[in-house]
Amino acid sequence: MCGIVGYIGNNQAAPFLLDGMSKLEYRGYDSAGIAVYEKNHIRIDKCVGRLEALRQKIAGNLPEGTVGIGHTRWATHGRPSDVNAHPHADSSGQFVVVHNGIIENYMALKEDLISKGHKFISETDTEVVAHLMAEYFTGNFEDTVKKVLKMIEGSYSLVFMCAKEPDKLICTKKSNPLVIGLGNGENFIASDIPAIISKTRKTFIMSDGEIATVTKDGVWVQDIDGTPISKKVFEVNWNAEAAEKGGFEHFMLKEIYEQPKAVRETMRGRLAKTGDAIEFSELNWTAEEFKDINKIFIVACGTAYHAGVVGKYYLEKMARIPVEVDIASEFRYREPIIDGSCLAIFVSQSGETSDTLEAMKESKRLGARTLAVTNVVGSSISREADQVVYTYAGPEIAVASTKAYTTQLLVMLLLSIYVAQLRGTITQERVAELVANIKEIPEKINRTLENVEQIKVFAKRYGSCEDAFFLGRSLDYAVALEGALKLKEISYIHAEAYAAGELKHGTLALITEGVPVIVLATQPHVYEKTISNLREVKAREAIVIGIAVEGDTEMAKHADHVIYIPHADGELAPLMAVLPLQLLAYYAALTRGCDVDKPRNLAKSVTVE
Ligand code: M6R
Repeated sequence: MCGIVGYIGNNQAAPFLLDGMSKLEYRGYDSAGIAVYEKNHIRIDKCVGRLEALRQKIAGNLPEGTVGIGHTRWATHGRPSDVNAHPHADSSGQFVVVHNGIIENYMALKEDLISKGHKFISETDTEVVAHLMAEYFTGNFEDTVKKVLKMIEGSYSLVFMCAKEPDKLICTKKSNPLVIGLGNGENFIASDIPAIISKTRKTFIMSDGEIATVTKDGVWVQDIDGTPISKKVFEVNWNAEAAEKGGFEHFMLKEIYEQPKAVRETMRGRLAKTGDAIEFSELNWTAEEFKDINKIFIVACGTAYHAGVVGKYYLEKMARIPVEVDIASEFRYREPIIDGSCLAIFVSQSGETSDTLEAMKESKRLGARTLAVTNVVGSSISREADQVVYTYAGPEIAVASTKAYTTQLLVMLLLSIYVAQLRGTITQERVAELVANIKEIPEKINRTLENVEQIKVFAKRYGSCEDAFFLGRSLDYAVALEGALKLKEISYIHAEAYAAGELKHGTLALITEGVPVIVLATQPHVYEKTISNLREVKAREAIVIGIAVEGDTEMAKHADHVIYIPHADGELAPLMAVLPLQLLAYYAALTRGCDVDKPRNLAKSVTVE
């Protein structure tokens, strides 16, 4: 996710900008750049790669000036490259901007500007904003920013520089973070507190729709109609490391709580405005085109594989097409029967997992159509695939995948509805029903996370166990797989997931007094059968923690404890049901004193076979 910094004061801007950007590296980025007002013009230096590459590029020739902005880019529109890196300027170089987020209507705006003679050099949505500033400049910097903000749609935090009024920076935000730091004779702007904490602890957080004009002597905040807004300044009392995690103790916990925002980003632009269709503008498949596809493969590793298992349920149920889910490292060596009549979907958060990448190459070689579902723009898997759907979860730092998984689930759901639309296997009424339910997911995720205190108690009570079992049927089984993986990878408790009906074919022998068994029962069509399986383990004196839907009065009669998730369409339940399992794993790991963000023997990105 992009990082933004801004400086205006009496000191040189460039050293602060570079230092501030380094404190935002944890957000993930692929290129970096700065713009400094130097000798009557705005000088821009930027390049693809790490911050170090930018430092080397300008070593010995640092821009001189006391006003500037900086940016670390995490590509969304256009691959990582020098020219796509921020800051972006209009053709005259008078208007410069850095941006975090997505300008949704940039294509229409760009076409209009091109018809007016503007020439664009990057593939980004952001460059449009700089050109809009030039096209609609009223003679007043502040008024022009307001005018441009009325034209753009999407999510953003933006910082503007104008060579005609170099004594100020203007910034604003909508659905993306921005903080202001207050100094003496200098002021600061940043995406996050770590970037400014070495300079000041006096800060305030910008809210959506606010516009701040920042000079070296003060900050003036107003809304788009010019109504002044007074902000509550507070003292940051965290240290720099804690600040990077936004006050959370670990990246994993931060990422768990980022899930409402992450799924909102995933669904952005994919729910038709009419409310009764799913759109993927990046795919634009037609029914005719899809007619030749008679089988789908989903190939991935680890958590991404578990998202694929859910995807199989969705696709088969909604689109009525056969789906095989494969572990990437197995797929490659089993001589898969795959050809031009198959669509192969490769799911990977990082887009760099070598088994998944090699499986994709093999599928291409055999003639299949390939689609990547990934979180990282410009990653190897996104480049190798015929087509790409991004999950837009933002960077995931913790080794244990959380928000990547939920956004993968959502992509799988949206894709399944999309394919069902093409194949005519779903009614418009059903799509409308699902879309209405999907819109409620972020809020329902928030509500599910409110169970945290109850989960902390379970984690303390059962955290010393050496074994745990996860049971479920249908989609609940798929989620159980992910719950068991989460628990074992960070708490080192041996955990296994079973299809609830499979237990008595062998594993029931391991169920004895006091063994914790987590039973998921969110799927109405197999509910009764799941409860029967629950009773089988209860009869062996296991401790049962049930995951049930609000309003379920049956579960509490059988389980020792119940965690309730909000009521939702059965298909959507996995997006909520996995959350208590993530929290349980996290707090169990804490109880056992494990290094949550860096579990032993594991790496975030597995680029070896
Ligand atoms: O980057 P990828 O999604 O391709 O990674 C695949 C697995 O290595 C990954 O999901 C792993 O299982 C998680 N760290 C588990 O939390």
